[in-house]
Amino acid sequence: MAYPLGHEGLMTSQRVAHFIVFLTSNGYHEAGWRMHEFDGTDPIGLQSYIHSTAICERGLLDGVFFADRLSLAAFRVRAFPQDHHDPLQLLSALAMNSTQIGLIATASTTFSNPWDLARRFATLDHVSAGRIGWNIVTTYDPAAAENFGVSLPEHDDRYARATEFVEVVKRLWDSWEDDALIRDPAAGIWADSARIHPAVFQGNYYSVAGALSVPRSPQGQPVLAQAGSSPAGIELAGQTADLVFTPQRSVEAATEFRQKINAAAKRHGRQAGNVRILPGLGYVLGSTEAEARARRQRLEESVDPTLRWQMLATTAGLDISKIDPTRPLSAEVAASAPPTSFAKNIVTQALQTARPFGELAASFTGLPGGLEFTGSPDQLADLVEEWVSCGASDGFTLQPAIVPEDLALFVDHVVPILQRRHLFRREYEGPTLRDHLGLPRPRLRRAM
Ligand SMILES: Cc1cc2nc3c(=O)[nH]c(=O)nc-3n(C[C@H](O)[C@H](O)[C@H](O)COP(=O)(O)O)c2cc1C
Repeated sequence: MAYPLGHEGLMTSQRVAHFIVFLTSNGYHEAGWRMHEFDGTDPIGLQSYIHSTAICERGLLDGVFFADRLSLAAFRVRAFPQDHHDPLQLLSALAMNSTQIGLIATASTTFSNPWDLARRFATLDHVSAGRIGWNIVTTYDPAAAENFGVSLPEHDDRYARATEFVEVVKRLWDSWEDDALIRDPAAGIWADSARIHPAVFQGNYYSVAGALSVPRSPQGQPVLAQAGSSPAGIELAGQTADLVFTPQRSVEAATEFRQKINAAAKRHGRQAGNVRILPGLGYVLGSTEAEARARRQRLEESVDPTLRWQMLATTAGLDISKIDPTRPLSAEVAASAPPTSFAKNIVTQALQTARPFGELAASFTGLPGGLEFTGSPDQLADLVEEWVSCGASDGFTLQPAIVPEDLALFVDHVVPILQRRHLFRREYEGPTLRDHLGLPRPRLRRAM
């Protein structure tokens, strides 16, 4: 399968890797915060985000990414850090404390308003001089809906809303032509109102009347990322995404997934080569495989088994009060799962085994259905090379187990190996996140 090669400006005949870091204050692993030196001076993570972003920028990584969670689960907060700040506001702070790295925030289409969100992301793209991305999620968490005083729309309805939401946002981002700003003090003309077009839209879920209140942003449009892998999620990605986050466990599965994304992109008249696919990659590094395994074991031994199964059950959308972790998942509880790809993945595995649910959950680390690595820098570089050189992925969404330790290990030990193998950049290609990802600046579409 072919897509434009050599856009990264390194080698014209070789694919190179892209990396976005799924950033949390202490690490992706639930026990990460217990393993690093916890000095207590940064209890809610803010300084750690600045520090970790600087490490990622030192390693020339494409960007950092923040998830979003719109509810607080009591069983989680007792066990590990739950500092789910508003990601857009975090990006604003990080834009002022970094100069080159891309910054991506998750925001929900189900619990936001398109005009408001379009403006906030456009402002961030200006603030950061073109380094912003939006991870579009539809929110699968019923507790979030309760916090917003509504009931959670059904899965496919959420995606129907998301499709319209993103269309409105893109029209708003395009409401100013690139050269609408005149800034002629002598003539007293600041902008040419003939080059600013109301994003008139009347849809099933949203309507908007006017233009955005900020000029077109440096990237034209911030980078759009999408993280759902169901058929509806793939359709939305094909229609709109520049970047796809997804759990994929093998080269074969990832290749099949890419084909589905490519087909969806083509259905929407887009070039498949303009979608970067970055599967999640949880990892624990050590200077040798044995050392990495020992670190992984220490992490695993520090996780409360109850936390593990409750996390797995809620990710699958199952009611924890109905589950007995000492027994296999019952068919009745399995049947109550919502149609998300997370649920499908977890429930399928649970029904295929006679193992108690609690025991099965112990083997689920990281993203359900995603890739988990334990080993040396050379071994991790081999894995990246295997996936990227055959086109199964364009790189990975890194989920370092312990932050900042595993981040620094990746930047200082894996990046140089990839650079020697011509699989990674030696300098940023340009100032914007689109430049890092080798994505074109979107042409302005005039509202109809
Ligand atoms: C890497 C990754 C990150 C995600 N981050 C978020 C998030 O921050 N907030 C959220 O509500 N959902 C998040 N999701 C969930 C997806 O947006 C989506 O709701 C979920 O995969 C179910 O949709 P699907 O059935 O289309 O896959 C994430 C998923 C993945 C794979």
